[in-house]
Amino acid sequence: MGIPVTIENPKPEAEAGLNDLVALVADGMARVNTTILSRTGSEVAMIPEVANHLIASGGKRLRPILTLACAQLCGYADAEGRDGDVKLAASVEFMHTATLLHDDVVDESDMRRGRVAARIKWGNEASVLVGDFLLGQAFRMMVEVGSLRALDILSAAATVIAEGEVMQLTNAKNLETDEAAYLAVIRGKTAELFAAACEVGPVLAGRGEAEQAAARAYGMGLGIAFQLIDDVLDYGGTSAELGKNVGDDFREGKITLPIVLAHRRGTAEERAFWQRTLQRGEIEDGDLETALAILRRHGALEETMARAEGYGAEARAALDAFPDGPVKAALLGAVEFCVARAH
Ligand code: IPE
Ligand code: IPE
Ligand code: MG
Ligand code: MG
Repeated sequence: MGIPVTIENPKPEAEAGLNDLVALVADGMARVNTTILSRTGSEVAMIPEVANHLIASGGKRLRPILTLACAQLCGYADAEGRDGDVKLAASVEFMHTATLLHDDVVDESDMRRGRVAARIKWGNEASVLVGDFLLGQAFRMMVEVGSLRALDILSAAATVIAEGEVMQLTNAKNLETDEAAYLAVIRGKTAELFAAACEVGPVLAGRGEAEQAAARAYGMGLGIAFQLIDDVLDYGGTSAELGKNVGDDFREGKITLPIVLAHRRGTAEERAFWQRTLQRGEIEDGDLETALAILRRHGALEETMARAEGYGAEARAALDAFPDGPVKAALLGAVEFCVARAH
């Protein structure tokens, strides 16, 4: 069995926009957390050690919250002892946890959820392999739920996430990357899991295609907005708030939307700066501050936030397909959180 650990939320006060949603799914999330802990168990001691290092440090649990909420929105109740929503929510968080373990290897990141990244403590190999274990566990839980449609949605998401990550790899250090290419990456690596997490809610509740598509569109808009803000915070946020190092994207030569916009508007001198730092990776002390100053000069962070607001509006509009009520209102609140978050 897994090492017993308590899940602590490191920043409860910062979740303002999510509070209503968190409260509505609190009972389900308690069961999700129990499920998550019980499914990290293995005879191979290193597996629960590595998994629980990351899992016990919390995270926002945004994706499983969305699964529970979208199931609830569609009237999926656990009155008859049904636990499909809890199992799918735990699967979704396992998929997310696996991608974080893999992502920190790919991105050579040192810090995650306010702690040293698993790869620093146990090495890249252990991080990748434990990520694979969690992905396997996620799919076992999906099979237990027995919805072939949900399995189809989530397994498709797993492939699309990987495609997004590989696409990003091929765009790295390439200043010719345009907005469309950037959007394709973030749709894949981030928004697809948000969309899938939401879509399986109505699927479980036996709702038709229109509601499945609406929940998916909500998750897609939300996920794109979420990653746009994440890319702003990688320059404009603080490590303490984020629980991960600011400036990782810059050091990796990742071409995010703020860079695309600033590069397009840049002077010859600024373009030379981006070429030296992002393209050639010749980064010196003070370059991150210079990068931030250039981004600010061109309003690139503000414009990226405005784009996030636009995708947030798409997410809100998708919810028109559902009748008003407390769950829908709380899902609208989650949009506010995703477009305005600082962590
Ligand atoms: C991190 O996701 C990866 C991105 C898509 C930016 P979260 O910000 O949801 O990570 P946790 O789970 O709260 O740590
Ligand atoms: C987020 O990737 C998406 C996945 C983990 C697949 P990022 O690399 O942009 O996210 P952070 O900044 O490490 O959380
Ligand atoms: Mg990454
Ligand atoms: Mg990363």
